[in-house]
Amino acid sequence: MVHLESFAHQLTHWPYLFSDCFEFHWGPLTVLLKFIHITDLHLKPPGQKLWGLDPKARFERCLADIEAWHKDASFCIISGDLADAGEPGAYNWLRERLKAFALPCHLMIGNHDQRDIFKAHFPDTPVDENGFVQQAFDTPEGRFVLLDTFKGGTSAGEFCAQRQSWLRRELDQASDRPIWLFMHHPPFNISIPYMDRIKLEDHEAFAKLVSAHDDIRHIFYGHVHRAGYVNWQGIACTSLPSINHQIPLSREAVAGKPYSDEPAMYAVVLINQAQVTIHFDAYDHRGEVDMPPRKP
Ligand SMILES: [Fe+2]
Repeated sequence: MVHLESFAHQLTHWPYLFSDCFEFHWGPLTVLLKFIHITDLHLKPPGQKLWGLDPKARFERCLADIEAWHKDASFCIISGDLADAGEPGAYNWLRERLKAFALPCHLMIGNHDQRDIFKAHFPDTPVDENGFVQQAFDTPEGRFVLLDTFKGGTSAGEFCAQRQSWLRRELDQASDRPIWLFMHHPPFNISIPYMDRIKLEDHEAFAKLVSAHDDIRHIFYGHVHRAGYVNWQGIACTSLPSINHQIPLSREAVAGKPYSDEPAMYAVVLINQAQVTIHFDAYDHRGEVDMPPRKP
């Protein structure tokens, strides 16, 4: 009987026993790095709303939710469109608000920002030797590369010769470490014509440069105001809804308007040796269901 119980135990737990023997990672794994991705805040100066919604209030609830449930994350990355139109009042509010936030935040700019106004309000944000708001930093789980795709005068993104040189250098310096790449504009179409017209210009140069590195594990992007997954050139790429307004897949579904009030989300990213896990959390739509409470 004892032997039968032991055999049954082994059958129940065989993936773990197997992993113990051969160092496979089939069982629960330790998270080596946890961080938060947020994008497209579209903040307005105090007292102003955008499309009938209040971006500051929605961002406040986002920050409160992260502090409540993910205070153990190492950092946040906010991938552009911090302000809706580069307003100094929006940047002032954001700078002061983030001082009281529990996690360090790495800020990027998008087409709705204004680079010079942003830099004046966030003098501590790293810039490269040419003044672009882009940086790379290393973690034990690899190199994080945050690319500036702002062009100005257009909603499309730019990947000019100076930024190509910078990205080539930063990717080369990663050596054989994993690379986690962040950019506001996607370098590919997502089959929403309105967005596909304003993706990253110079995307052929970007594709060529990226294809020379086989350690790019993931591209995180914003701009499209939707949660999405694209496998591009063999690289996993994910986007997020805006904190304020979204871009509907079908305008006809929202009376022909270009924007919709679908749920905002932030992403919880968990990295370990075996996998990258991304949870898209609709923090503002987490109501209880009608059922008796259960034990955890
Ligand atoms: Fe945006």
